[in-house]
Amino acid sequence: MNNSHNVETNAPRLFDADIAAQVEKLLERMSLEEKIGQLTQIGGISGFVPGPEPEEIVRRGGAGSVLWLNDPKRFNALQKIAVEESPSKIPLLFALDVIHGYRTIFPTPLAMAASWDPDVPERAQAIAAREARAAGIHWTFAPMIDIARDARWGRIVEGAGEDPYLGAAMAAAQVRGFQGESLGAPDRMLACAKHFAGYGAADGGRDYDPVYLPETLLRNVYFPPFQAALKAGVGTFMSAYMDLNNVPASANRWLLHDVLREEWGFEGFVVSDAFAVANLVTQGFAYNARDAALRALRAGLNMDMASATYLQHGAELVRSGAIAEADIDALVRPILAIKIRMGLFENPYVDESRLEEILSRPEHREEARRAAQRCMVLLRNEGNLLPLSKSLQNVAVIGPVADSMEALEGPWLVFGHQPAAVTILQGIREKLPHAHVTHASGPEIRRDYPSPFDALMETFSGAPRPAPQTPEEAEAAFQAAVETARNADVVIMALGETANMSGEAASRASLDLPGRQEELLKAVVALGKPVALVLVNGRPLSINWAAEHVPAILEAWHPGSEGGRAVADVLFGDVNPGGKLPVTFPRAGSHEPLYYARNITHAPEGSRMYSARYWDGPPTPLFPFGYGLSYTTFAFDNLTVNKPEIKVGEVAIVTVNVTNTGSVAGDEVVQLYIHQRAGSDSRPMRELKGFKRVTLEPGETKTVTFHLGPDELGYWSTSAGEWVQDAATFDLWAGGDSQASLHAELRVME
Ligand code: GLC
Repeated sequence: MNNSHNVETNAPRLFDADIAAQVEKLLERMSLEEKIGQLTQIGGISGFVPGPEPEEIVRRGGAGSVLWLNDPKRFNALQKIAVEESPSKIPLLFALDVIHGYRTIFPTPLAMAASWDPDVPERAQAIAAREARAAGIHWTFAPMIDIARDARWGRIVEGAGEDPYLGAAMAAAQVRGFQGESLGAPDRMLACAKHFAGYGAADGGRDYDPVYLPETLLRNVYFPPFQAALKAGVGTFMSAYMDLNNVPASANRWLLHDVLREEWGFEGFVVSDAFAVANLVTQGFAYNARDAALRALRAGLNMDMASATYLQHGAELVRSGAIAEADIDALVRPILAIKIRMGLFENPYVDESRLEEILSRPEHREEARRAAQRCMVLLRNEGNLLPLSKSLQNVAVIGPVADSMEALEGPWLVFGHQPAAVTILQGIREKLPHAHVTHASGPEIRRDYPSPFDALMETFSGAPRPAPQTPEEAEAAFQAAVETARNADVVIMALGETANMSGEAASRASLDLPGRQEELLKAVVALGKPVALVLVNGRPLSINWAAEHVPAILEAWHPGSEGGRAVADVLFGDVNPGGKLPVTFPRAGSHEPLYYARNITHAPEGSRMYSARYWDGPPTPLFPFGYGLSYTTFAFDNLTVNKPEIKVGEVAIVTVNVTNTGSVAGDEVVQLYIHQRAGSDSRPMRELKGFKRVTLEPGETKTVTFHLGPDELGYWSTSAGEWVQDAATFDLWAGGDSQASLHAELRVME
């Protein structure tokens, strides 16, 4: 997706003549205050945000949308006030973060990207939309499509990893899942491409910290997933919190107007992140709240989330002449158009009677189990320890996330969600009904600093967090776990992170296993029994010791409501894992950002001048981007290009054969990487430009075809200051990860 001009969307355009006419009719009858109200989104929980009660604001037409509410009855009560009592009777849009499931929880988006199968997130988000819409939620603040190349950043869990090509495919798939073919279906939701743009490049991986990205990186790496979401018809964008090159994204006219609207032709609307308009003062950008409102409005930010800054200052800004009412009308139009397209005027209410039936549909859990199976990545399997035999009689399942529903479902669950996951321990006991399956958690794991959201959740749930384990309790738990392992024939270690160790405000300097988990792992491995490690985590972890000493390692991520069953399916061979890493696993947090698509430098590995980039340790990844094993083996051959030479603007057809050379059926993700040897700019040593997950029976060969044309071979050039496609020679590689060796060459001529 390398075009800067108008991004032609596949979905029907938001405004047609009929919609436009309806919008004008609405505008004509609205007061200025009501127009400002449509640009305002308020928190739905009484007392959550200081100020008048939501009911009072809605009654006077002071809000166009309500967020942070998850209660069908409350939705209908507020909606009734809006459509029966407010001056123009315009229905509300109800919004909530439905990131990877509403009641049925799917693997996190990073995990779903590890499936390298866009069908996985598309089907997952379609189910999430069906469930959330049945609860009365119209609009989800998803997909989060921020490229992330620094695993210290906790929100890496919410995106699709480090690569724009994979990220673009996953972004489009999620939009299709949430919205369907076009806005308005009663079991689909309005989606929101967030956080526009560059949020994942925060300095040091520290959430909310400033971002400094040159235009070449924005356009070649961080924009493509947003362009793909737009092409898939996403109805809204969310502007990011942070300063982007010293201009906060929520007041960044270049971003929100010049690029998003003028270049890309976006017709929907942009909502700020929470309190981001008011925060323009906090960030040292706006002089005061009035200035913040003015500059965000001028930048083209349609809706102010939760800060009520537009509500306080919008009308006065128009009356004082600081901004024209026509500009306010332009910001209101897409909001009204989307409400019309969503059918809210005809059907403003949710039918409360359908919710439980929809939430209890068995096919939702079946799909969650299938998704979890397809997201898992086999990182190590020395001596083919896996799959384990189902005739095992004495198995120990050990670790702090082995029996944790909360860890299985991960971060970003909706308000009021009660975890109901099948844990790893439960999944294994189900799989081995006649075996003696023991369990010990070992020492607990906790953040050193609490999450700001924990305090918030305690306030609203009323359930105080349990006190931390004392050192004595932790030591006792440690010894009990080792003893449990000692008494078993095989040990399954379930280690990783709790749900609040990744996600928002969850950045972390180290990528080591938290707490005493590695110490416990070493003690268990020292017993000399077969050990399989299952990782439950939101981000890459630097499991250097485990990668050397534990024969089998399965990356399960936060696999969702059916995660325990899916883990058991893979561990005991009912499913052959086929996932691949969507992000590099570094050897240390201090190596970040470490990503595969980097430039070669004048001292590449193997050259005379090369010295390990860090003299205190190898800078190479622990596990590379695109990596993942299988219970079978695959071979690649016959990488061919239909023409050794093409002209700039033409398309080359690339084919490669992949064969299952093992004894069991399995999936391989065929990946195509390119490198442009020279050109207007230096280009990354490898870039993913094609992938396909294929299933192969033992001995079966398939031919996979890719197209390389201007979209894949062109890029935004620093030297030229525009999009270019150079005449140049390209190396092509195809294989099962980013270090693929099967090579071919393609020459692109003037
Ligand atoms: C949060 C997040 C954003 C979320 C919004 C509404 O702070 O940054 O991703 O959608 O607020 O909850």
